[in-house]
Amino acid sequence: MQWLAKAPSNIALIKYMGKQNSDHNIAANPSLSYTLNHLQSTVTLEHSHEQRDKWLPLCEQNNQLTLSPAAEKRFLQHLHWLKQQFNFSGSFIVRSANNFPLGCGLASSAASFAALTKCTALALTDLTAKPYPSILQQATWSRQGSGSSCRSFFDGFVLWDNDNIQTIDTPYTNLIHKAIVISQEEKLVSSTDAHLRVCSSPHYAMRAQRANLRLQALLQVLQNQDWAKAYRICWEEFHDMHNLFTTAAQPFHYITAETQHVLTLLEKLWEIEQDGPIVTMDAGPNIHLLYRCSQQALADHFQQKYLDGRYHVI
Ligand code: DP6
Repeated sequence: MQWLAKAPSNIALIKYMGKQNSDHNIAANPSLSYTLNHLQSTVTLEHSHEQRDKWLPLCEQNNQLTLSPAAEKRFLQHLHWLKQQFNFSGSFIVRSANNFPLGCGLASSAASFAALTKCTALALTDLTAKPYPSILQQATWSRQGSGSSCRSFFDGFVLWDNDNIQTIDTPYTNLIHKAIVISQEEKLVSSTDAHLRVCSSPHYAMRAQRANLRLQALLQVLQNQDWAKAYRICWEEFHDMHNLFTTAAQPFHYITAETQHVLTLLEKLWEIEQDGPIVTMDAGPNIHLLYRCSQQALADHFQQKYLDGRYHVI
């Protein structure tokens, strides 16, 4: 028997950075993301008679996913944990793939852990007498595997605040997302390690308070359709997170000279046009842009003039 599930990635505007509890991925502060339906992971599960679960790449669209031994172990540990929730002791061959190109530095764990959780919920509902879990239950389980994946169960703007994970309605729908791939190299410090290391920054003590204030302000300006203010809040927020990285006891950074160059171009675009995309960055060197759907011409113009031929844009 085989099961299949897909899940999208998401990009945080108010960042989950720092944990109250690492065993259960309880975030130090609430976060707000936008779901990226065009960046998806697919997971299949095949019931197996082997003693142990096994991971294999799912061959899809000539994109063969590779996982480091540590990433593979973490993925299979989450499957094991999910099986415990159903008191299921059988084994699976788990296959996974992303629909975005390999090595583009966007291999976010959010989509893959969400797809694994969804697929396991389907399989174990069929294989046990247990009822199919609610979406909130699945999102809460997925958080155990990777915190940010819990937001991938909902569409549009998604708020994750402790056990509450929900879509937030705003006047902005169907935003255009572009990721500017500055570097394709594997990160030296994973997000999971970053969560631990930021705690030693002198700016960490007030971090949750700053994130909370920005969250309230961002929710308000999104409702009021004040796009320029939303841009400024998100700009401050990702710099706040990257500032925690560079001020940690063992500092680390992801912003390269190339990243800085493109960030300056984006600041100039805003200065000239008095308009532009919301700009944000995750724990990596790549830049994410969100445009309103009415800004398609501006998005095309910026890409053609400054990005095409220089950077991979997804
Ligand atoms: C910078 O969800 O990858 O992308 O819970 O340890 O798996 P774990 O961390 P992860 O952290 C994501 C951090 C971030 C910000 C965000 O997505 O909110």
